[in-house]
Amino acid sequence: MTLFTSRLLEWFDRHGRHDLPWQSPLDPYRVWVSEMMLQQTQVATVIPYFQRFVERFPDIHSLAAASSDEVMRYWAGLGYYSRARNLHAAATTVSTQGFPRTLEGMMSLPGVGRSTAGAILAIAFGERHTILDGNCKRVYARHRGIVGWTGDAKVAEALWGVAEELTPRERVADYTQAIMDLGATVCTRNKPRCDACPVHEDCVARVQGAVAAIPGARPRRVRPLRSTQVLVIESGNREVLLELRPPKGIWGGLWSLPEAAEETDVGTVVRERFGFEVWGANTLAPIRHQFTHFTLDMTPVHVRTREGSGKDSQCDARWVRLDALSEVGLPAPVTRILAMLESPA
Ligand code: ADE
Repeated sequence: MTLFTSRLLEWFDRHGRHDLPWQSPLDPYRVWVSEMMLQQTQVATVIPYFQRFVERFPDIHSLAAASSDEVMRYWAGLGYYSRARNLHAAATTVSTQGFPRTLEGMMSLPGVGRSTAGAILAIAFGERHTILDGNCKRVYARHRGIVGWTGDAKVAEALWGVAEELTPRERVADYTQAIMDLGATVCTRNKPRCDACPVHEDCVARVQGAVAAIPGARPRRVRPLRSTQVLVIESGNREVLLELRPPKGIWGGLWSLPEAAEETDVGTVVRERFGFEVWGANTLAPIRHQFTHFTLDMTPVHVRTREGSGKDSQCDARWVRLDALSEVGLPAPVTRILAMLESPA
């Protein structure tokens, strides 16, 4: 075991996180669900979602048996919804065949990359595998003074090499949690607490005064800007029309508000697409949402119709009472838009 590793484990025993909800009871299903949720989301945000999710789907069989609609509802608000679709898709295979016990097998599950596969095998089964998520990359890059953006293939390769060198044969589950905890709580991106770090002594970035410069920034990229109108179609009895999004693409499988291309006349769209008579439309304050690959400007248009729950449209759509929206899983920006109805902007 290297000095780095023994110092880190000693620190972990005293200062690491030992009370995360997926740590006890510890089983592969809960570890897998947590690692999928943690891929793009911080621990504090994940915790309540994780708890609700495993309460409703306590094991792989309950998840496999659930409808996609219900799984999406429990994921709604967490974002990056392909993770939920992948989880549900993998559940069927895993419920009949059990969890894979090799790195390749684990990586064959949809949505499980090399680092997540390593983390599940190490944490759930105590098998020696390396991980390299964003937190680990930052710790290793600083400690070794590896400059450049960690998304760069050459830099990432060097960091995988460091992970391989430092990951111990014993206590691999603890090491895996420890390196992530150090990155999340001490070796943070901004204002790292080097004085509290168990490996600061021989940290190249610290010794050279380069902590702020490592890891290097991602090359600037400009996200394309898209715009759309979002239809808030309200019935006479305080219901709103929701539409099921197609499985592929943004918010796939979630209930959302219908959209209309920019510049199109909303009244015409509502009449032609849904067959509803419109008796008033007004534009609400636009909101902007950042997706990974583009920025979306949404202009909500509040449309009133006489129609209501008696009349459904031909599409995958349904009326939901405004006071019952919390029972449907909605993407966070859609919730923001619907909140404007209560307090018009
Ligand atoms: N990020 C990814 N996996 C994690 C874990 N098990 N604990 C804390 N942060 C994480």
